[in-house]
This record gives sequence, C-alpha cells and structure tokens, in this order.
Amino acid sequence: ALISLRQLLDHAAERGYGVPAFNVNNLEQMRAIMEGAHHTNSPVIVQASAGARKYAGSNFLRHMILAAIEEFPHIPVCMHQDHGASPASCQRSIQLGFSSVMMDGSLLEDQKTPSSYDYNLDVTRRTVEMAHACGVSVEGELGCLGSLETGQAGEEDGVGAVGTLSHEQMLTDPEEAADFVKRTGVDALAIAIGTSHGAYKFTRPPTGDVLAIERIKAINARIPGTHLVMHGSSSVPQEWLAVINEHGGDIAETYGVPVSEIQEGIKHGVRKVNIDTDLRLASTGAIRQFMAANPSEFDPRKFLKASIDAMRDIVIARYEAFGTAGNA
Ligand code: G3H
Ligand code: 13P
Ligand code: NA
Ligand code: ZN
Repeated sequence: ALISLRQLLDHAAERGYGVPAFNVNNLEQMRAIMEGAHHTNSPVIVQASAGARKYAGSNFLRHMILAAIEEFPHIPVCMHQDHGASPASCQRSIQLGFSSVMMDGSLLEDQKTPSSYDYNLDVTRRTVEMAHACGVSVEGELGCLGSLETGQAGEEDGVGAVGTLSHEQMLTDPEEAADFVKRTGVDALAIAIGTSHGAYKFTRPPTGDVLAIERIKAINARIPGTHLVMHGSSSVPQEWLAVINEHGGDIAETYGVPVSEIQEGIKHGVRKVNIDTDLRLASTGAIRQFMAANPSEFDPRKFLKASIDAMRDIVIARYEAFGTAGNA
C-alpha cells in the first residue's frame, strides 16, 4: 500500500528504527528493492530524482512504483521525490501521485548555489502548505552537505553545492533548525552532519567519528517531532570497488559512511537514510563480473539479473542493519 513519509517515519520513531531510502531509475533497481523488502518484511521508501525523471520518464517511473505496490500488496511503500528544486516541481510530483516530496531550498533552483535562509524558509513553507493540503509529506533541508574531511560537497555533476565549503556551512545549526521547523511545518529535515553525495566522501579509511554525532543529538533535542534525514549515506563497499577494478574498471581509492556510524545516528533520531551510490556500485560490479566470466553471452536479462541480485543483497543488509526488517 502507498503510505506517506510522515506515517512511515512516525512508526519508525515509535519503534526506534531507521529506513533506507533508495533511489530508483529503472526496473532492476525497483525489483531489487522490493525483493529485499519482501525477504526481510520491511517498509520501503523509493525516491526519484530529477535525473531519474529525465532518464526513465515521469510516467514510466510512476507506473513502475505503482506496479511494485500492486505486486507486493503487503509492503508499505512511500513514493518520494528526491531533491525538489522548486515548489513548482514538487507540485508536479504531487499531481503524479507521490506521497512525499523533498523541497531542497538549501540550494537555489540550480541546485548548485547555496541559498539564503529566507529563501529556504519561503520555498519550503509554500511547499508544505500545498503538500499538506493533499495529504503529502514534506522533507526540507537545512545546511550544506559536505565531507568534513575534504570540505567538498561531493558529485561534480549531481546534486550539491559547487566548490569548497566552510566548516560552519557543513553543520546544521540546532537553533536555526528549531526556527525552520516551527516556521515551515516540515515533516522531516535533512541535516548537514558531515556526509556528502557520491562515491568520493573520504580519502582515508574512516576510523569512527566521520559523522558529527554530537550535532545530531543537539538537533534532535531541539526538534523532537521532526524526523531527521541523512543524505549521502552510502557506505561505498570496498569489495565492490575491488570487483569493479579487477574487471576493467578504474575507480580511485575512496571510502563511505560506515554502517556502524549510521546505526549510531539512528540511535539519536535519524529516521531516513538516503542511499544511491551503493546500488550503483553493486550493479556495475556485478555486470562487469558477469561479462568477464561469460564473454559469449549477449542476452541482457542475464547480466541484468546479476545486477538485481547484487543490489538486492545490499538492500537486505541495510534493512537488517537499520532495524527496518520485520516492520512492514
Ligand atoms: O542526491 C543525489 C542522488 O544520488 C540522485 O542522483 O541526481 O544523479 O539521479 P541523480
Ligand atoms: P549517496 O550518494 O551517498 O548514495 O547518497 C544519495 C542521496 O543522498 C540521495 O538523495
Ligand atoms: Na543542502
Ligand atoms: Zn541527497
């Protein structure tokens, strides 16, 4: 059944678990997520970015998510728009039947330039007014996502600020969060606490403390009724990097957010954990591996099946690690 983000995260808060929010662009990702949810009896958040709508087409995406709900009627599914750039784009997703939208007003409409606080308040408040009238939840964002180690926002061509960020920009202020939530009425708030989008988060193996856990605690204490969201939460599995590089790939040394750090975040109020890169890496690795082992094979279903299986295993691991399993 289709459920809103507020419904799902209220349940998660009551029981103290976190929910991974996986990005979806194609049938293989959708099947991997639903098979993993079915296997572990987990509720689902699938999210579509502007890039996903451009790649698959809005109608294909929408019907793919609806098909998943039809095929797995026992699994609650939240259909979420990732990184909405304007109230108008959120309105379009609401019309398409999404049960939750993110209005990312931490950046201007180009989704590259950090915005003013007043701009963020204005676009987010307008989105909440519109969405809540339709029973749709809203996620806002306050602060600039960026790696505290590298000072970089992450992906060059994807979502995120361009250039080097200051330490203060990369940490959401708890007092500002309290004011923002009070004045916008958002259901969930994405916070900047040291993560960044994409595969290149950290240059050295993390030795604990990659997240600003004290900051998470302080924000959570100020906005207990609003669910915390962590973007850029891929763990960048070293075993998949090795598979890719052993089969013709060329990905530089890089590290993600350890699952144990995410678990610590969940203990202190993080409820939605955004993951895209990990499924991309598993998919690419599985396809490269299959192609190398089966050079005469040319039926795409064979290598795409390998990709589904690899993504499904990551999905299952995250549902189990975040305590989502058993809560469908
Ligand atoms: O926030 C970024 C997500 O990983 C979506 O990436 O904009 O390339 O679809 P995308
Ligand atoms: P990753 O790039 O770490 O997977 O983060 C995805 C994300 O935050 C989508 O909004
Ligand atoms: Na931001
Ligand atoms: Zn994000």
